[in-house]
Order: sequence, then structure tokens, then C-alpha cells
Amino acid sequence: MGDKIPNRQDALDLLHKYNETDSLRKHAYAVEGVMRHIARKRGQDEEKWGVIGLIHDLDYEKFPSEHCSKTRVLLEEHGWPEEYIRAAVSHGWGICSDVAPENDLEKVLYTIDELTGLVVTTSLIRPSKSVMDVTVKSVKNKWKDKRFAAGVDRSVIEKGAQMVGVPLEELIEDTIKGMQEVAEAIGLKGIA
Ligand SMILES: [Fe+2]
Ligand SMILES: [Fe+2]
Repeated sequence: MGDKIPNRQDALDLLHKYNETDSLRKHAYAVEGVMRHIARKRGQDEEKWGVIGLIHDLDYEKFPSEHCSKTRVLLEEHGWPEEYIRAAVSHGWGICSDVAPENDLEKVLYTIDELTGLVVTTSLIRPSKSVMDVTVKSVKNKWKDKRFAAGVDRSVIEKGAQMVGVPLEELIEDTIKGMQEVAEAIGLKGIA
């Protein structure tokens, strides 16, 4: 890729090459949607935020035991810029990487990655099974219910929100809105 800045198509090509599982692709589209929404709201580079959202879990399907570190290898092989690689790897800070989120993009990615999972599960218990019917309140209601979306570590989201410096409620709202923008692609447009 040389000095070329990766665009959405580059990211999609890589995502599809390394991730055949439907749920993993949908997770990538969800994170992309939220990253784009928040970038736009902040007047940031929407394409860059979205591209990093798409490839943040690039290695997860084929190299789960090397999650994060293998993403660095794969992106380096494809000549991706260090800024993009660092950002992708930082999403697993404290879990599968020791690269702490530093800039706004990285901090937001770290926070909303887990949050998208909570919004998916909240969507699926709506009668419509649609993300269009999810509210901030419905997500907050499930916050302390540890059996609900048990795989979602709430403490990571809370720590992330503190780093971003934005109230948790606002980040939940942004995550819902970003996912609503891509509802069709993530299979949460509803059954009605
Ligand atoms: Fe991950
Ligand atoms: Fe993820």
C-alpha cells in the first residue's frame, strides 16, 4: 500500500478476506457505524474512524489466541500506516494488548466496542428485534444485570467513558444512533 491512506474498500476487502463469519462481519459494521457517527459529530475524519472500526478485530476469526498482535502483523503485511495499526491494537488494551488508547479515536473505539454488544442484545429483546426501538434507558436498565449480555464487561465501558470525558449516557446514545444508521447491514432493522 506504500504511503496510500487506506479507504473503506481496502478495509472491506481485508475484513472479508479474514472474516467469513456473519456475526463477526456484522460486529465490524456496527463498530464502523458508531465510529462514523461520532467522528461526524465531532468534526473528525469520518473515513479514518470508520476504516479503523471495520478492521479492529481483523485477526479474531482466524487467530483468536493471537488477537490484537496478529492484526498488527496482517496490517503491516498489507502496508497499512502505523497510525491505523496502533489504533486497531489499542482497542484490546488490558485484554489482549498493552497499547493504551491515547487519542480521541482510540479512546472512543475502546469504549464503544463493548457497548455495541450490549446494544445488540438489548435490540434482540425488543418485540420488534430492532435497534430502531432501543433507548438509552433500555440499555441502562440492563447495566447491573450481570446475566444479561454476560460477555460484555461494563467496567471496560465505564473506564472508557471516563477516558473519553463524556457522560456514559451520551456515549450510549451515540452508539445507538450509529448502529441505527447501519441497522440493515447489521441485521437489526427488525422483523416488522
Ligand atoms: Fe477485539
Ligand atoms: Fe470488537
